[in-house]
Amino acid sequence: MTPYLGTGRAGLWVRPANLHYRSVAYTRVGDLLLGLTALALLRGRVQELGGKRYSDARVNDLRRILDHWGEPALQRDANWQPAAAADGYAVWAQSYDDEANPLIELDQATLAPLIARHASGAALDAACGTGRWSKFLAERGFAVIGVDESPEMLERATSKLPSVDFRRADVRSLPVGSESLDLVVCSLALTHLPELDNVMAEFARVLRPGGAAIVSNIHHLSQPLGGSAEVVLPDGRLVRLPLSLFLPSDYVNAAVNAGFTIRVCIEACWPDAGQQYGGPTAQEWCAEAAHVAYTSTPGLIALELVKPVGHTAHGAGV
Ligand SMILES: C[S@@+](CC[C@H](N)C(=O)[O-])C[C@H]1O[C@@H](n2cnc3c(N)ncnc32)[C@H](O)[C@@H]1O
Repeated sequence: MTPYLGTGRAGLWVRPANLHYRSVAYTRVGDLLLGLTALALLRGRVQELGGKRYSDARVNDLRRILDHWGEPALQRDANWQPAAAADGYAVWAQSYDDEANPLIELDQATLAPLIARHASGAALDAACGTGRWSKFLAERGFAVIGVDESPEMLERATSKLPSVDFRRADVRSLPVGSESLDLVVCSLALTHLPELDNVMAEFARVLRPGGAAIVSNIHHLSQPLGGSAEVVLPDGRLVRLPLSLFLPSDYVNAAVNAGFTIRVCIEACWPDAGQQYGGPTAQEWCAEAAHVAYTSTPGLIALELVKPVGHTAHGAGV
């Protein structure tokens, strides 16, 4: 039953977006394969994928996986303890720029044209990480401030982009003056926050009237498909970074509550070519199902938000 929390501004029916925030997570390779195959079976009900031949093939995939359920490759599992995002990024910073990451590719392809149509000015790269968008903005003539809470990610960013003004801070309490920026970019970080109202209010505070915030995050429908940040810490602990499952309506409501108007909302699906989805075990046991499951699912949500002229910022100024 959906709980009635009764806290929405309009007394709306809401569900806890951060249901899994801070819980121990169990993952097993065989579960992912069964889930991908079942999802692909369901997609056959609404997409033209091959009729009965396609459905029978998916049922055969399920049967084959269950017939071999005891195999070590399918039983490979893990319990992921909750950890602060900063603990995970302290480790991840070492390899972040070197690993192929399809989510970053999707983010790059989706956000670049949105950012590129803005005239240069003062920009903030919020949760800048190793400075991917700081670099893009600086190359387009923006005066860039990059903010992140992870010293290790900032160290990487600073070594690559010495001309950018990087500052260590939480995106919900920005060390930036009110109404001082033309553009805020915040990519692939919001899932680590427990809710969106505070960060949206902070973005509205630092933007000039007429300024824009371009935000992106992994799409909640892709989070069960392997879209969670998991890291092995130096002491051997397996940890999952905070993971909120925000719905599109969560972004819309938080943005509107902060006074933004929504110019663009994109739910970008995983590309249909050139990818081997689900990892090597999925490729061995259910490659077609994995392909259908991923390419039918949005990987990224991106919004461009505009602070209307005449809007008065609320929240703490500096
Ligand atoms: C997946 S990385 C994305 C980095 C960069 N935006 C990009 O797209 O390449 C997420 C970043 O968010 C940062 N982060 C997470 N929670 C944060 C918070 N509350 N305040 C500031 N930074 C935060 C992490 O330290 C990390 O660098």
